[in-house]
Amino acid sequence: MPGILDTYAAYLPVTERTPKLTLHEGNTPLLFCPRLSEELDVELYVKYEGANPTGSFKDRGMVVAVAKAVEEGSRTVICASTGNTSASAAAYAARAGLSCIVLVPDGYVAVGKLAQAVMYGAEVLAVAGNFDQALAIVRSIAAHHGVTLVNSVNPYRIEGQKTAAFEICDVLGDAPDVLAIPVGNAGNITAYWKGFGEYRRAGRATRLPRMFGFEAEGAAAIVRGEPIAQPETVATAIRIGNPASWDGAVRAAKESGGRIDFVTDAEILDAYRKLARWEGIFAEPASSASVAGVAKMRRLGEIEAGAKVVCVLTGNGLKDPHTALEAVDLKPRRVAATEDAVWTAIQEVGGI
Ligand code: F0G
Repeated sequence: MPGILDTYAAYLPVTERTPKLTLHEGNTPLLFCPRLSEELDVELYVKYEGANPTGSFKDRGMVVAVAKAVEEGSRTVICASTGNTSASAAAYAARAGLSCIVLVPDGYVAVGKLAQAVMYGAEVLAVAGNFDQALAIVRSIAAHHGVTLVNSVNPYRIEGQKTAAFEICDVLGDAPDVLAIPVGNAGNITAYWKGFGEYRRAGRATRLPRMFGFEAEGAAAIVRGEPIAQPETVATAIRIGNPASWDGAVRAAKESGGRIDFVTDAEILDAYRKLARWEGIFAEPASSASVAGVAKMRRLGEIEAGAKVVCVLTGNGLKDPHTALEAVDLKPRRVAATEDAVWTAIQEVGGI
């Protein structure tokens, strides 16, 4: 059964009139990470959401939000985005035959995400401001002009995104001890917590995980307890200073006995490199906040040794090639197109 709407219809607000929209989102890999497990002394898995059709977890929620927009007779969807939401909205709108308008913070969107939105045919507006300002604008436009808002304040987005929690329980046979997740606008942690709760109530899991959400240090509004007017972080996907689902994140952490904390850009980039070099997994910087956060919680003793931990890797590393090339010291070296020159270079870099 391909796609979220089909696979999890019983748990979603679908009717006979909901179109069977899909790009085969969901059913993403849950990968065990042997080297990170050893380093952190936990049993660490990653939920690789970069394997979704547009390369991020947003597809799970977007397929529901866009299908419901079609069902309700909408012609146009709109969103503000740090990049992934816009890529996903543009793709599903294209598939469903709707128009799509996206507002992105000018200069702070990874190039791959921008390329996606443009290719899928969205109208892209680069706003001279940050995500929080763009979200306030689209909320108002949607309220006054009859276009459908597809940010995660749209409850259908949360409904779709909760399905990742179902998949984790199905693969592990139950909920893990700990679910670690990056926090930006805080929709996804809200969705996972809802999903774990519903699955347990349905008898598909016997317990709930402790929920750990991680903001970037320069955008840690929830941790600091107040909005941040000018958030800054290398992880542009979570460069958000006033999360719309703030309460949902706090509730998930509190009710589950977990915590919302922050990680520094240096910690994010360290986890980003280790995921790629040690595990063969290329996730985008914001995604790596989940792994960086688990490392921090282990140092602080907040997560016990041997715990079964799932880190959500929210987006594909290919979306942000610039940060990747800046994150490694060694750039590809230029070499003449002869066997001698190549062999000499290999010996010089100690490649063999
Ligand atoms: N990771 C990635 C790769 C993201 O793109 C986002 C959010 C998050 C984590 C945080 O998720 O907002 O539900 O807490 N990106 C949004 C966007 C804001 O516009 O693409 P959240």
